[in-house]
Amino acid sequence: MNSTNSTVLRCNHIKKSFDSESDKGKLEILTDVNLSVKQSEIIAVIGSSGCGKSTLLHIMGGLDKPDSGEIWWDDKPIHKYNTDELAGLRNRNIGFVFQFHHLLPEFTAMENVMMPGLIKGTPKAEAEDRATSLLDRFGLKQRLHHRPSQLSGGEQQRVSMARALMNNPSTILADEPTGNLDEKNTDSILSLLFELREEENVSIVLITHENEIAERCDSIYTLHNGVLEQSE
Ligand SMILES: Nc1ncnc2c1ncn2[C@@H]1O[C@H](COP(=O)(O)OP(=O)(O)O)[C@@H](O)[C@H]1O
Ligand SMILES: [Mg+2]
Repeated sequence: MNSTNSTVLRCNHIKKSFDSESDKGKLEILTDVNLSVKQSEIIAVIGSSGCGKSTLLHIMGGLDKPDSGEIWWDDKPIHKYNTDELAGLRNRNIGFVFQFHHLLPEFTAMENVMMPGLIKGTPKAEAEDRATSLLDRFGLKQRLHHRPSQLSGGEQQRVSMARALMNNPSTILADEPTGNLDEKNTDSILSLLFELREEENVSIVLITHENEIAERCDSIYTLHNGVLEQSE
């Protein structure tokens, strides 16, 4: 990674709590999270189950709002954005990959991948071309018209990566993308992520609970007691 690369994402003093069910108190999940991610950087976020990793990723990506704090994408203060503005930002700048692919079951692989492009207003033929080349690139040329239920777990996850890349996002936010896969598929998904960084300069925030995966990233942050600490 080039150390002069610009910062694409910055979180300042993020706080988030949820209402506790058992009493009137609050569950303080994130108390003071600070992070900056540079172009082409791959960072891992680790931490025990329930510590708030997914909550943080959702806040970074504008899927959820912090109670306080700032989130900047380039020079855009998205903590001030309304729902429509956030949806636009996500569609153009961010590719999400989740543990359970979240593909739409009634659509084919190709249609799932095209969807963010169509939402953005890409003409259908162009969206088809891009979706086809992404799926081809991910070894799914023979699976364009399969529905998610007709694909293996590893294939489903590769489709969801292709969907995340449809609009050439600056950043991929991945929430335990290999948490559900065997070693071979985990390896192929990770290799694809690292190739994408080389070829397209994407930044990646990778949530994982596996140390071996975290160690392959440029830097590792641990979320603990509501705070993010860099471990190397
Ligand atoms: N919408 C919500 N309402 C109430 N509590 C929530 C909500 N989302 C998450 N939590 C709680 O916040 C904590 C952190 O959750 P999460 O971010 O999913 O953890 P992780 O991804 O690190 O396993 C958990 O205790 C979870 O039960
Ligand atoms: Mg989680």
